[in-house]
Amino acid sequence: MDTSFRVSSSIIYFFLFLSLSNTAVFSTSVVVEAYDPYDPTSNITVKWDVLSWTSDGYVGVVTITNNQIYRTVQKPGWKLGWTWAGREVVWSMVGAQAIDQGNCSRFKGNIPHSCLKTPTMVDLMPGTPFNQQVKDCCKGGTLSTRYQDVHNSMASFQISVGNAGTSNTTVRMPKKFTFVAGHDKYTCRPAKTVPSTRFITSDGRRMTRAFMTWKVVCTHSRAKEANKHPACCVSFSGFGQHKKANCPTCACGCRNKTCNSSRRGLSFVPSKIKCTDHMCPVNINWQMMKPKEKGVGWAVNVSITNFNYRMNYSDWTLLVNHPSINKLTETLPKCPTYQARPFKLLNLAPASTVEMVEIIWGAKNKTDVITATGRKGSTVSWIMHLYKNKYKNDTATLSCEKDWRTPREVFFNGDRCVVSSLLPLASARIH
Ligand SMILES: *[C@@H]1O[C@H](CO)[C@@H](O)[C@H](O)[C@H]1NC(C)=O
Ligand SMILES: *[C@@H]1O[C@H](CO)[C@@H](O)[C@H](O)[C@H]1NC(C)=O
Ligand SMILES: *[C@@H]1O[C@H](CO)[C@@H](O)[C@H](O)[C@H]1NC(C)=O
Ligand SMILES: *[C@@H]1O[C@H](CO)[C@@H](O)[C@H](O)[C@H]1NC(C)=O
Ligand SMILES: *[C@@H]1O[C@H](CO)[C@@H](O)[C@H](O)[C@H]1NC(C)=O
Ligand SMILES: *[C@@H]1O[C@H](CO)[C@@H](O)[C@H](O)[C@H]1NC(C)=O
Ligand SMILES: *[C@@H]1O[C@H](CO)[C@@H](O)[C@H](O)[C@H]1NC(C)=O
Ligand SMILES: *[C@@H]1O[C@H](CO)[C@@H](O)[C@H](O)[C@H]1NC(C)=O
Ligand SMILES: *[C@@H]1O[C@H](CO)[C@@H](O)[C@H](O)[C@H]1NC(C)=O
Repeated sequence: MDTSFRVSSSIIYFFLFLSLSNTAVFSTSVVVEAYDPYDPTSNITVKWDVLSWTSDGYVGVVTITNNQIYRTVQKPGWKLGWTWAGREVVWSMVGAQAIDQGNCSRFKGNIPHSCLKTPTMVDLMPGTPFNQQVKDCCKGGTLSTRYQDVHNSMASFQISVGNAGTSNTTVRMPKKFTFVAGHDKYTCRPAKTVPSTRFITSDGRRMTRAFMTWKVVCTHSRAKEANKHPACCVSFSGFGQHKKANCPTCACGCRNKTCNSSRRGLSFVPSKIKCTDHMCPVNINWQMMKPKEKGVGWAVNVSITNFNYRMNYSDWTLLVNHPSINKLTETLPKCPTYQARPFKLLNLAPASTVEMVEIIWGAKNKTDVITATGRKGSTVSWIMHLYKNKYKNDTATLSCEKDWRTPREVFFNGDRCVVSSLLPLASARIH
């Protein structure tokens, strides 16, 4: 743990250095172990409660909780898999389903829901009939973070397992859990027996206990990000520049033959994202504005544009590491166009001045969906006020040297964005 911490701290420092020195056009993605300096204890847990014994096994409830701070589970949703310890089968499920029934030909009469040795479960879709639902199920596999919304960060399903032990000494935990969330892969540790879960009845007057409880902890594995193109970029527009700035050319990849319409022919495969100079699927523009109130700091018009042709982002999150972010939340009660919560970072490198980051997400029915490009509304935007913080008495011009106006690091849906160092024009003073 110690070594991994030190490595990651130096990475933060490295990025700070990059942004402060203004030398690099963008920071390349550095991939080490799965340790996430912004969310060191981040995990997704799977809790498996054995609730009652049956003639050949048990009925259990499996609960998945997204304990991450800024990584939501997007469409097409989570997939949870495991390998049975013996010859267990799934008789039935409520609130989720196995994607493959497997070979159940050895059964006559009652046919199990799944006979696979290594089944994979997925959530049911919204609108599932009431009698096939359990609490927290049926969200099409999407999960908010626990930080945004406790209720929507959980998924659960009921499972009736046969050919299993029928007592707490004969029943065996499944092994080799796997968790996939959309395009993100997770690494799961072996299941462990933990103290039995206690359940309180809905009237709050009675408590029951699971017979046994197993817990699995899965962490996001970033290994796959190594060769990936960046998924987003951040550009800055200065005061008085009413146009959105562009990200640097080739920030997320270069135009290639998928953009060359003169090659149209049978073998032409058009680009999945809109052809731009930066080729970023998502562009975040950070436009400086003068605040209405004098002396409070400055305002910024943040707009997120989706250049994907086939991707609607719903329930997106933005993590912003900005030096003056700790005061940002003060404006929130008056701000119906977005939601945000500051997050205090733990264990940062001594040299770092970063203490807080802001996690921002869309307001329901207003900015929470960024639809695919090609139709109206592929951009969402909102105004944030940034207060002067440790530079409280700084009345100097908002000149280019002051890196504190612009974010150091930005993550969209957990992906690190290329942060342009092309700073806005120095054209305004705070009066
Ligand atoms: C999982 O996340 C929770 C919430 O952040 C944390 O309390 C817990 O310690 C984490 N577990 C592990 C094994 O990292
Ligand atoms: C299913 O399993 C039975 C034995 O239980 C076997 O005879 C049969 O070939 C299997 N079918 C398939 C399609 O694998
Ligand atoms: C099994 O249940 C018995 C009685 O309910 C209890 O004493 C024992 O500790 C349990 N064993 C395990 C492994 O949970
Ligand atoms: C073309 O560019 C896109 C976007 O950067 C990339 O995903 C794709 O792999 C490239 N295709 C080729 C053939 O280079
Ligand atoms: C587009 O394709 C045409 C025909 O293959 C080729 O002549 C031209 O150079 C290509 N342009 C670019 C920008 O790749
Ligand atoms: C903020 O930016 C968006 C997108 O560029 C633009 O449509 C909107 O008018 C801007 N808002 C203000 C108040 O300038
Ligand atoms: C995106 O959302 C729009 C409007 O809700 C819908 O018509 C479209 O099919 C969606 N596209 C994708 C790729 O999900
Ligand atoms: C969002 O819209 C849906 C359907 O239009 C509505 O049922 C829901 O109450 C709205 N939510 C909020 C927070 O306004
Ligand atoms: C402003 O802050 C600087 C240190 O950042 C300090 O040296 C200076 O005296 C302060 N000026 C006023 C007017 O408080």
